[in-house]
Amino acid sequence: MIRLLVGRSTKRVCLSAVFAASALFSLPIFAQTVTGKWIGTQRLLDNGESGRVFLDLHQTGTEVSGTVTTIGHVYQVTGTIAGNHFELFSSPKDAKPRVAGDIAGDELKLTRDNDHFVAVPAKPGDEYPPYERITPPALHDVAYNGLAKTPPMGWNSWNLFQSHIDDKTMREIADAMVTSGMRDAGYVYVNIDDTWEGVRDAQGNLSPNKKFPDMKALADYIHSKGLKFGVYSSPGPRTCAEYPGSYGHEEQDAQTFAAWGVDYLKYDWCGARMIYTHDDLQAVYQKMGNALLNSGRPIVYSLCEYGSGNVALWGAKVGGNLWRTTGDISDSWTSMIANIEKQVPTAPYAGPGHWNDPDMLEIGNGHMTDEEYRTHMSLWALAAAPLLAGNDIRTMSPAIKEILMNHEVLAVDQDALGKQASPVKIGNLEMCKGERSGTWHEGEVSARSLAALQRSVSQGSLHREYPTAWSASASREELIVSVAGAQHIT
Ligand code: GLA
Repeated sequence: MIRLLVGRSTKRVCLSAVFAASALFSLPIFAQTVTGKWIGTQRLLDNGESGRVFLDLHQTGTEVSGTVTTIGHVYQVTGTIAGNHFELFSSPKDAKPRVAGDIAGDELKLTRDNDHFVAVPAKPGDEYPPYERITPPALHDVAYNGLAKTPPMGWNSWNLFQSHIDDKTMREIADAMVTSGMRDAGYVYVNIDDTWEGVRDAQGNLSPNKKFPDMKALADYIHSKGLKFGVYSSPGPRTCAEYPGSYGHEEQDAQTFAAWGVDYLKYDWCGARMIYTHDDLQAVYQKMGNALLNSGRPIVYSLCEYGSGNVALWGAKVGGNLWRTTGDISDSWTSMIANIEKQVPTAPYAGPGHWNDPDMLEIGNGHMTDEEYRTHMSLWALAAAPLLAGNDIRTMSPAIKEILMNHEVLAVDQDALGKQASPVKIGNLEMCKGERSGTWHEGEVSARSLAALQRSVSQGSLHREYPTAWSASASREELIVSVAGAQHIT
């Protein structure tokens, strides 16, 4: 019996048709389709919630396109199917599929974010209800909180630990920040990134999840070590990792953070995309900027919006002490260089209290050479970038310690004038697409800092093709050459 194919529910019909056809032609053809609406339940979050994933897919020949909706995100995907196997990407830049899967009878066996789960045909009403839009406040300038006169320095859990972070690890990292000398070198903030969040109670108060039994006690412990404590949230209803965000609870969360003893908040756009557009960025970030000020506790405010919406122009106006100027860094030379090059047009906007943030350090995470990590450090120092180490401080090698705690390089980063370096053209070294050639001027940065930088960039540090010459002063050719290409050092 052969019937028409209508949507995904006809898969079995489709198969019977194909069997009939292959019986006729003796060809092993399996023309299954992923077209249709599918619902899967992904991993259990650390707060006990399950993440539902809703896929609305359309297949034409071997091409597949559609939408993936999770509790905190919606994204478009495109890809291909070969036999039963399909791979879907949300951007041409994706190195690996956002969602991959196989058709298995009436189900899809899916892989997303390294989790494996099964999706079945969705029923009406399985979709998440849309979030209600809360109109963001009218724009006004938020008063400066007086913090981050030099780029903030510390440690953050995300680059290495991602979701595998808990109270015990945080305390051990805090201990190691002291014993390794990191604290005394200036790295004082010890920050938990995403996945600490629990659920809200009936009054809307947010608790940590089981990995963090007592945030106030953890903050007290970190403070007892002479360190400061940071947490993470989102202006959206959900964070990037799909835990509860601060949407509609901004004042309440700011009060909670202050009561715990939080000194630093990283506020990550992610789930806000479900509700707002880039036109709303400034107002939405302003809301938490005000809430932090109202909390009465000095809290460094770190905007994490991947450089969207010309953030350098308004980051300080919303009370931001630093703002991301790039997408997420990864532990690779290409990623690191791509991020630093995006700093070029932002240079005029850095200064005491408000900094461009090319993302956290990958130094010591194992996928670059020590020479490359030394370059990473030097470039971040030149860019007056916040220095948030992202490695395992408990076990770092002497070479990594030396890179992270090179006091002379740190002096460049922490220079009180807060001038961010810009590229200049020297000899046959190319300028970075001519965006800007402003430089630090003679005398603006101490001679000690300049000499230190030169020393920190050893022969071979920039041993690959590198189109940008960074400089602290056009008049100091030795320094420029040392940063721009080690082949010039004899
Ligand atoms: C985003 C941020 C990262 C990290 C993760 C956590 O990708 O850019 O720095 O905070 O979210 O989910």
